[in-house]
Amino acid sequence: MPVTADQFKSALRRWASGVSVLTTLREGGIQGITVSSFCSLSLNPPLILACIDKKARSHALISRHRAFAINVLRAGQERLSELAAGHAGERGNWLEGFPHRKAATGAPILDDCLAWFDCSLETLHDGGDHTIFVGRVEAAGHSEGRPLLYCDGDYHRMAESRPKSHKEPRGAE
Ligand SMILES: Cc1cc2nc3c(=O)[nH]c(=O)nc-3n(C[C@H](O)[C@H](O)[C@H](O)COP(=O)(O)O)c2cc1C
Repeated sequence: MPVTADQFKSALRRWASGVSVLTTLREGGIQGITVSSFCSLSLNPPLILACIDKKARSHALISRHRAFAINVLRAGQERLSELAAGHAGERGNWLEGFPHRKAATGAPILDDCLAWFDCSLETLHDGGDHTIFVGRVEAAGHSEGRPLLYCDGDYHRMAESRPKSHKEPRGAE
């Protein structure tokens, strides 16, 4: 028997991820979309991927500009995530008033995020109702802090991690 939509979504809700906002340029400013499907793909060449709903407004903008940035959110940036998820209406996705800068491709990189990847569009692949956008990382950076997490339809923060020196040596567990 094929999987039902409810079974599929319920199982997916158990998957924990970080939260990122993919940014592109729209006429007059920034377009943001909250994305948990961000993933590293290759070290050499440096590639990442993100899966974007074909109905999302960002979809056409990425294809048109052939560039985008991935902004990895830090703990405390829940409001930014909600805006870019469209939960405050279309203008929320415009991320008006968010300080930003440009690196190599011209895609907008948001200030105060935990990490960022400035990407030119390498290739894209069909993925059902989504498209897999593969980005070549032209520039990247990070700052100190903890990531924002998402699981079971809600935001979470990372528990205090054990100091590295206290971790068991490999094979000892
Ligand atoms: C935590 C979280 C993760 C999300 N991840 C994705 C994703 O990976 N791909 C996607 O297409 N939409 C994802 N969404 C939904 C989009 O952010 C949402 O549909 C967005 O408003 C689409 O904007 P647009 O139509 O203006 O481009 C996610 C939403 C949330 C809250």
